[in-house]
Amino acid sequence: MSSIPRDQWYVAAYGREIGHDLFSRTICGESILFWRTRAGEVTAMSDRCVHRRFPLSQAPSRLVEDQVVCGYHGFTYGADGVCVAVPGQTRVPRTARLKRYPVVEQDSFVWVWIGDPAKADAARIPRAPWLVSPDYTTVSGMEPLRARFGLLVDNLLDLSHETYLHGGYIGTPEVAATPITTEVDEEAGIVYVSRHMDDAECPPFYAKSTGLTGRIMRWQDIEYTPPCLYKLHSRIAPLGVLPNPDGSDPDAFHVEVVYAITPETEHSTHDFWAVARDFALDDQGVSDFLAEQNRTVVLQDVAALDVLERVIATEPPGYQELSINIDTGGLAARRLLARMAGQATAPSGTAVPAPRS
Ligand code: FES
Ligand SMILES: [Fe+2]
Repeated sequence: MSSIPRDQWYVAAYGREIGHDLFSRTICGESILFWRTRAGEVTAMSDRCVHRRFPLSQAPSRLVEDQVVCGYHGFTYGADGVCVAVPGQTRVPRTARLKRYPVVEQDSFVWVWIGDPAKADAARIPRAPWLVSPDYTTVSGMEPLRARFGLLVDNLLDLSHETYLHGGYIGTPEVAATPITTEVDEEAGIVYVSRHMDDAECPPFYAKSTGLTGRIMRWQDIEYTPPCLYKLHSRIAPLGVLPNPDGSDPDAFHVEVVYAITPETEHSTHDFWAVARDFALDDQGVSDFLAEQNRTVVLQDVAALDVLERVIATEPPGYQELSINIDTGGLAARRLLARMAGQATAPSGTAVPAPRS
């Protein structure tokens, strides 16, 4: 049984990736063709011609105005996926239409609905408003992961790994040493994990971008809305500087680290990442630095998770993980994901153990 929840919204691409040309990406095992109409609307439909399956994203298939012409025998489809012309006859079979996917462009992302289109409700798409806010400057990218999406969820819900895997970038001893608090909003389906470091070393990622030196307050508040959207609200401030009672926080630096975790297949993932900051808004040097640093950090995770995927593929059945307090958020996420996927077991295929302290 698949570990990938269906009847869900997933990020398929950044809006900037899709123009008036044919673009294909596999989402949850489905090969999907995207293109933008001349009016600017993003369309999403199956990337398989109904005739003999030729991929419509594959040359010599081509986009002619707002129609896709299959490069094999010329079946021609409109923006609604309906076939309007076939070769050698005037009658177009009634069933000649491509599967269409509900699609919404929001917060710089193109979201696609995987599952029953009748259940798609755009109001359920979680938000990441910083990514398009004029009060923030954002750098972003996407790295392909040759590992199942559940491994990336585990990774992002337990940031204690920053100390070890990302030392010299975002990791300092205090991340692993500081206990977390975990909360699950069962009704909304959101996992919250918080780690507030009130006296911590400032890692290079924040020292160079904020200009703070010496010890800092560093708060990490994770908000994960399974299956796809992960937000890390990161607050960096001089020692002892707290937000005002009214919630304003003018003397702190805020970074919103957003990940969209989109399964490509059962064993591969699109790892979308974005870093939005509310300081040094026009400083291209800071943008370049954060983009390069965060990409390096993401690639450190990618290398580790690719290894884990290979380890899992070769291990005998019944391997039992051992979980501790740091895993509370990850285990909660696994439980929600398993429920969404209609599974009794965790996405990694292992039973969900209770954390042990
Ligand atoms: S496969 Fe597309 S027209 Fe034949
Ligand atoms: Fe990481």
